[in-house]
Amino acid sequence: MKALVYRGPGKKVLENHAMPQLEAPDDAIVRITRTTICGTDLHILKGDVPTCTPGRILGHEGVGVVEQVGAAVSAFRPGEHVLISCISACGKCDYCRQGMYSHCTTGGWILGNTIDGTQAEYVRIAHADTSLYRIPAGADEEALVMLSDILPTGFECGVLNGRIEPGDTVAIVGAGPVGLASLLTAQFYSPAQIISIDLNANRLEVAKRFGATSTINGAQGAVVEQVKALTGGRGVDCAVEAVGVPASFVLCQDIIAPGGTIANIGVHGVKVDLHLERLWSQNITITTRLVDTVTTPMLLKTVQSGRIEPTKLITHRFKLDHILDAYDTFARAAETHALKVIIET
Ligand SMILES: NC(=O)c1ccc[n+]([C@@H]2O[C@H](COP(=O)([O-])OP(=O)(O)OC[C@H]3O[C@@H](n4cnc5c(N)ncnc54)[C@H](O)[C@@H]3O)[C@@H](O)[C@H]2O)c1
Ligand SMILES: [Zn+2]
Ligand SMILES: [Zn+2]
Repeated sequence: MKALVYRGPGKKVLENHAMPQLEAPDDAIVRITRTTICGTDLHILKGDVPTCTPGRILGHEGVGVVEQVGAAVSAFRPGEHVLISCISACGKCDYCRQGMYSHCTTGGWILGNTIDGTQAEYVRIAHADTSLYRIPAGADEEALVMLSDILPTGFECGVLNGRIEPGDTVAIVGAGPVGLASLLTAQFYSPAQIISIDLNANRLEVAKRFGATSTINGAQGAVVEQVKALTGGRGVDCAVEAVGVPASFVLCQDIIAPGGTIANIGVHGVKVDLHLERLWSQNITITTRLVDTVTTPMLLKTVQSGRIEPTKLITHRFKLDHILDAYDTFARAAETHALKVIIET
């Protein structure tokens, strides 16, 4: 089968690869119909994710059709259309029983990291009963690719952890696919203001279309002053960090109002300053989270009903044969205006 294989920092190849096999009774083999590329795949290619070693098939998002199931799989049968979660979960360990699938002792984020991933014609899914979701007949499967990772990430790590409530003032720092997913799902809670902040004018245009009440281009400076001006000098009740660099986390600390919540989503590769000398008295909360994908069934319903339209995030489409072009387009998002690229097998 064809697969996109990580060969070490800066190196990836599309090659012929052995088919995945069932390795445990609760495994399933899924034939991929559509997958996509995540910012985290680019982190891996930069060498930022040491758990992902050369030889690994990348990808942790996608939809497909069940090809084969192990003897212990009871929820799925060959031929069923499924959504693949970026998080694999046994459903039985202490962390899974708390709904913290991301820390499953025999799962978590393993797909396209410590086991072969979805940027291939076939993938082995561990703990299939609790790591796959059945796709309802007639669903827009392309839209559901956005449910493997970015929508639950934006919602769980940004909106739920950020404790967004009706009437709140929210700033979302970063208008990449994840920040935009927070922007779409924050609107479930009717915040009064959503300020989208990025350095990229095109992405801010998209944010405006997706429901941001204001946008601020950080490349032009004076971001804190602009946020203060928009919020009567108070700052925001919730600051969602959807970038993953020190500057954006510090910005969240500069714009948070007393009693507010900073919800970190970004994957940070280096240490970040925490200004407790200013914040100790401000009654703020800082949250961190690896996406658990516990909200996937709920999000699936909101997509089915048209309450959110994740296809708005899709900007480009490629065949698996051209996945190297897809990577190139995605990596040059500033020029190509790429958000999510769909790869069809
Ligand atoms: N916590 C989790 O479980 C989880 C899951 C998935 C992704 N992530 C992380 O979420 C983050 C966002 O993902 P993405 O795919 O949207 O990434 P992305 O790189 O596409 O988007 C980041 C955006 O931030 C903007 N930006 C960069 N520096 C900025 C600054 N100083 N101020 C304002 N904006 C700035 C960029 O222009 C870009 O539009 C990444 O760090 C990713 O690794 C976390
Ligand atoms: Zn991802
Ligand atoms: Zn578990």
